[in-house]
Amino acid sequence: MNNNRHTRERSGWVSENVAGIPLSAIKMMAMLSAKTQGALSLAWGLPSFQTPSYIRKGVAERMESDPEAGMYTLPDGLKELRTLVTNVHSRETGVKVDADENVLITAGNMEGLNTMFHVIIDPEDEIIVTDPGFTSHLNQIKLCGGIPVYWRLNEDEGWRLDTERLPGLITNKTKAIVLVSPSNPTGKIFTREELLVVGQIAKQYNLMVLLDDPYRYFTYENKSKYFNLASEEGLADHIAYFFTFSKSFAMSGWRIGYMILPGHLKKEALKVHDATMICTPRISQIAATVALKGRMKHLGEFEAILAARRELILQRLDRVPHVFDYVKPEGAYYVFPRITTDHKDSLNFSLSLLKDAKVAVTPGSAFGPAGEHHVRMAFCVSEEVINQAFDRIEAYFRR
Ligand SMILES: Cc1ncc(COP(=O)(O)O)c(C=O)c1O
Repeated sequence: MNNNRHTRERSGWVSENVAGIPLSAIKMMAMLSAKTQGALSLAWGLPSFQTPSYIRKGVAERMESDPEAGMYTLPDGLKELRTLVTNVHSRETGVKVDADENVLITAGNMEGLNTMFHVIIDPEDEIIVTDPGFTSHLNQIKLCGGIPVYWRLNEDEGWRLDTERLPGLITNKTKAIVLVSPSNPTGKIFTREELLVVGQIAKQYNLMVLLDDPYRYFTYENKSKYFNLASEEGLADHIAYFFTFSKSFAMSGWRIGYMILPGHLKKEALKVHDATMICTPRISQIAATVALKGRMKHLGEFEAILAARRELILQRLDRVPHVFDYVKPEGAYYVFPRITTDHKDSLNFSLSLLKDAKVAVTPGSAFGPAGEHHVRMAFCVSEEVINQAFDRIEAYFRR
């Protein structure tokens, strides 16, 4: 028996790496909000929609008729689903990929990205992330021993991607650039031209581009602006593309997505994915299979509802210019207003808003240094919640 271990302080069990990382502020605010009686939450990007009925019904039928429905699958997922994914991908991008060579079914984009960060990061390797960018990428990179390098977006120009600054951030430790467009938290859709420049730079410096794409189907009046860099055939060796069913199929709790990546990287990714979870839950793979076989009518319906919610939240923000100033989001379902009222920092502002006005938002500092003095509001909740939350905000700042 090792006596030292038994006398150690409890905190001594935790690795320095994990101890040094905060819980994602998005989840922290969601948990605080759940504990605050009567609170309304705009903190979490959790769509209010129910999983569409054609998917629920299809899964129920398969549960009854498929004797293997409760079993493991091969680590890269059901062939039927991987084949459907290749069809969707070639329809969307014009690029042909192979179900065995390039497709890995994940337990959502978080698991897919975590897997890829494990594959590519050696200690102290650098990963370029937009600033602001998605909080969880930062934690995932740090957990793998990597260093997130912030690529500041240009707020004065509507959170534009500042491609001129990118080469200056690249060192011999840089492994990859992570992009989300439409963006979380700003709702920005990066242009085709900007993305192509990123692709060229990635090629020139031999970097990967990780395209985390949860909001592809929420682009509103900006459909023609959306560009998927994975449609550039010449960049195929440099791109890992991640899609999730969480948002546009309202399947966040099923934990299901896929990644498309160069063949030699899929082989490496399989080691991590298998060591983590053997396979994505088969029931969720069945659900995704049903989802992709259907007509996906709900996509337009969800988008129309979200468009109305976006109009509403922007109208409500317009009524409180003494509290917030914002850039109109082009896609996704987030708005990232700057705090215009007196405050110390975005964390204190958000904690007070929850405690005193019972409205949860996510502090902008969680999304990188450029996010300080902002908050993120998710408008994937009902119009009623948006209206009530803003009634409270108006009343609170009138005082
Ligand atoms: C940019 C981004 N990536 C990944 C995720 C999580 O996706 P999943 O549910 O597929 O893990 C989210 C959810 O908010 C997100 O905004």
